[in-house]
Amino acid sequence: MHSEIQKVVITERAIKERVVELAAEIAEVYGRCEDGVTIVTVLAGSLIFLSDLIRLLPIKMRVGLMAVSSYAGQTTTSRGAKLELTSLPDLRNRNVLIVDDIVETGRTLRIVQEEVRRLGPRSVQTVVLLRKTSRAPADVPVDFIGFDIEDVFVVGYGLDYDGLYRNLPYIGVLRSELYDAEA
Ligand code: IMP
Ligand code: MG
Repeated sequence: MHSEIQKVVITERAIKERVVELAAEIAEVYGRCEDGVTIVTVLAGSLIFLSDLIRLLPIKMRVGLMAVSSYAGQTTTSRGAKLELTSLPDLRNRNVLIVDDIVETGRTLRIVQEEVRRLGPRSVQTVVLLRKTSRAPADVPVDFIGFDIEDVFVVGYGLDYDGLYRNLPYIGVLRSELYDAEA
């Protein structure tokens, strides 16, 4: 599996260090909320980030799930996005933190943020592990960002290509011959 990676973009160690910092920033905000935080996580790319992050947050929390389809199979370009699944606790009057893996065009997060807002939370903030700086739109607010990266397709630490590579402990770029042409 590692031999299929052309370049490591963010090392395991750098991710660990940054997640600790993010958790401290987030704990500072939600540690003050009496009823804690309700996390809404976006499947499946955020799973690894979520599990590392929440174990560093010593605050009262509930966790809900949403899934949005965007990339289908062997593609590396996002084409429309649609809400596929929600499994959420009551968000009314809650302080909600949306946890996502990466914001690229922002289509996915826009849908998630709209759906969360519709459910009547007290506040909504968003954390993403990665942001593709050159693509992220201004109208999709992100409050906490792990890393800004270039506009390259990456895998690992939850992120997949065609369902694979989520279990890599770092973030890297696949060897180009492994990506399907037009995709
Ligand atoms: P957006 O809707 O264009 O912002 O794309 C966001 C979603 O597409 C993310 O939640 C990821 O699941 C997926 N995605 C975007 N860029 C990448 C990438 O570089 N590698 C793997 N998945 C990605
Ligand atoms: Mg995602």
